[in-house]
Amino acid sequence: MVIAVDGPAASGKGTIARALARHFGLPHMDTGMLYRAVALSMFRFGGDPGSEFEAVRACDGVAQIDPTDEELRSEVVSSIASRISAYPGVRAALLERQRSFAAGADGAVLDGRDIGTVIAPHATAKLFVTASPEVRARRRVAELLARGMPSHYEDVLIDIRARDERDSGREAAPLAKAEDAELLDTSEMSIEEAIAAAIGLVEARVKARA
Ligand code: CDP
Ligand code: CDP
Repeated sequence: MVIAVDGPAASGKGTIARALARHFGLPHMDTGMLYRAVALSMFRFGGDPGSEFEAVRACDGVAQIDPTDEELRSEVVSSIASRISAYPGVRAALLERQRSFAAGADGAVLDGRDIGTVIAPHATAKLFVTASPEVRARRRVAELLARGMPSHYEDVLIDIRARDERDSGREAAPLAKAEDAELLDTSEMSIEEAIAAAIGLVEARVKARA
């Protein structure tokens, strides 16, 4: 079983993907972390995010980044990640890692922007998780605060809108709902409600395919 979870920034896709992985006993990959690791590598060791050549070169440095590094979640890294993820060369450099994870013998849950459309187009179940930009900005502010990185709501909202536009408007694997994905709007849902709804949608899909 392969579950694809896509959606914009702070829609709750990561929380939902982790919960689905636990519920169905599947390994989970947060693919945004790959793009964030490239971004952090450039931020820390130098590299111009305006250059595709330098961004592709930074893909080799992904393995050197500690996945628990708090700076991976900072707004500056989010913003660089969104810029460098528009380069076809960067997407190609990170493709194989994601495809082979999705093809693992035990099945998988992957979350990102292009899982249902590009990485795992034949996934057993696909979810497209959304929420209004205002709700997502509030969630991200609370999350950053909890991690000891206070931020301003207005700045985060502007950043989320800018990333939405870049992620949806780029030519290479834009953020888009796959035709056969289930839409899950979590704007009015608690975490528990969103997880329960996601499990229900996946179970219904599995039943329908059986
Ligand atoms: O958690 P959040 O949704 O804010 O971001 P993320 O999923 O960690 O992804 C960071 C950035 O990487 C996004 O703004 C996307 O531009 C990019 N990304 C992508 O292009 N394709 C993916 N499969 C995952 C992330
Ligand atoms: O992975 P993505 O960036 O889409 O979002 P996330 O990291 O799963 O969720 C962003 C923040 O919103 C986290 O702090 C979640 O705990 C919170 N959240 C929420 O408040 N309500 C939900 N229904 C889902 C997530």
